[in-house]
Amino acid sequence: MALMALADVPEDDARGVTIRDGAKMRKFVVLRWKGETIVYRNRCPHAGTPLDWIPDRFFDRSGAFIFCATHGASFEPDTGLCIDGPCVGDVLDRCKFTVDDGIVTLAEPL
Ligand code: FES
Repeated sequence: MALMALADVPEDDARGVTIRDGAKMRKFVVLRWKGETIVYRNRCPHAGTPLDWIPDRFFDRSGAFIFCATHGASFEPDTGLCIDGPCVGDVLDRCKFTVDDGIVTLAEPL
């Protein structure tokens, strides 16, 4: 299932996407971070809410950490590990994906 064009994600930033398949709806966040592409489910491990209040605003003010807008958890972009906030030690759910012809495609069930 195609998520988005990799070119739509600025380097060292992230973009969100919502995918629907019948009754299922899932949110994802695609990161380009230090030359690496990473896909996480857009779901905080603390309470399960999407990370971004403002669409596509996933990073904190420093630009160094992914931020959960709901209660302020901070996550390492490259590992998804929560290093501050109510879910320290939990990790974002990392997804398998492929990139073909510049399109990031989910390589696991929705
Ligand atoms: S839901 Fe993310 S820190 Fe609470």
